Amino acid sequence: MDFKKNILVTGGAGFIGSHAVRHFVKKYSAYKIINLDKLTYAGNLENLKDIENSENYVFIRGDITDSELVESIFSEHSIDSVIHLAAESHVDRSIVSPMDFIQTNIIGTFTLLNAAKKFWQTSNHKPQTTNLFYHISTDEVYGSLGATGYFTEETSYDPRSPYSASKAGSDHLVMAYHHTYKLPVVITNCSNNYGPFQFPEKLMPLIIHNIVHQKPLPVYGKGENVRDWLFVQDHVEAMDTVFHKGKEGETYNIGGSNEWKNIDLVRKICSIMDEKLKRAAGSSEKLITFVKDRAGHDLRYAIDSGKIQRELGWKPAHRFEDGIELTIDWYMNNSEWLNHVTSGEYQKYYQEQYVNR
Ligand code: NAD
Ligand code: DAU
Repeated sequence: MDFKKNILVTGGAGFIGSHAVRHFVKKYSAYKIINLDKLTYAGNLENLKDIENSENYVFIRGDITDSELVESIFSEHSIDSVIHLAAESHVDRSIVSPMDFIQTNIIGTFTLLNAAKKFWQTSNHKPQTTNLFYHISTDEVYGSLGATGYFTEETSYDPRSPYSASKAGSDHLVMAYHHTYKLPVVITNCSNNYGPFQFPEKLMPLIIHNIVHQKPLPVYGKGENVRDWLFVQDHVEAMDTVFHKGKEGETYNIGGSNEWKNIDLVRKICSIMDEKLKRAAGSSEKLITFVKDRAGHDLRYAIDSGKIQRELGWKPAHRFEDGIELTIDWYMNNSEWLNHVTSGEYQKYYQEQYVNR
């Protein structure tokens, strides 16, 4: 079958990637989605069970730093666009094992850029007007805000963790390939996402999981740090908008205009869950445990998403009150998924589905 677009999505088995893959596979049957994912601890094919047999979907297990593999995928599938999400994404892990972040986030992005440049710009490849390298990045590249102010696209980069430094490095490489080699690129920098399928090392799923099991709720420092939370499907809708309407060489900030101090957010989840679990009001809050702060912990992130709203017409569609209910319900109804991802059980699923058949 001849597809209108052949899109290489990297990291499509992870949290945001799986929502993005599902969205593009379901909404655009004329696009072929090629999902390249290494299936690290954070990648899980169970996230994509409902679309894995779709005609317009292909899964390839592999590493974005493997240049031979990446180049062969470009030519075998005639890749005309890339949506690059694959990354090591957890700040705490970057403090313990920074090398993994340098490898995947910097070398991996560099490998993909080179493959795109080679395939799209060599004489034997029919030039297409619709090539696009869309790089998914984070607001953490801008550093840390004080009590006031917002990150705009003009804010200078000031990354302060190995994770954010590796993402900043990848953003710079993407823009360098645009300016030097005229590679058609676009970048988005998004705030904290929440929703189903997030690995339970991140704040929201960790707190929900621990409340269910009545385990301590670790809050770093005094819980005064602020994050701007966006429902994952709103991020995916923004990605769809930028992929189709974004201007080459531009960056767009994406955020929820929804700031929460960590301690207030944890308390909010506690009170919603006390009600859902029919426990006495205030019982989950007793599990809150203040623990040693994260090294170099950024105080506050807050995004000004005026540019994407004005220029491309995107804005978040989910109210936080609805998104958080939906998210808590999903984790409470999918304890099997949580058990699988935390025990490495999904590796067996991969083996049965893809290797033994
Ligand atoms: P995630 O950790 O849930 O998923 C990452 C995926 O990448 C996994 O499926 C993993 O197997 C895959 N991967 C890792 N290394 C790889 C490699 N070398 N080769 C191929 N695949 C590899 O991450 P996420 O939270 O879904 O984040 C996705 C992207 O969005 C990242 O680039 C992240 O920086 C960015 N981002 C995340 C957030 C957030 O709140 N989670 C916010 C803004 C931006
Ligand atoms: O801002 C976008 C970024 O959001 C993404 O680029 C990252 O990939 C993503 O992981 C996320 O980074 P954070 O460090 O903000 O997310 P995390 O869920 O790890 O932590 C959210 C806040 O909660 C942060 O201030 C640290 C705090 N925290 C986290 C954990 C895991 C706790 O207090 N206790 C915890 O146990």
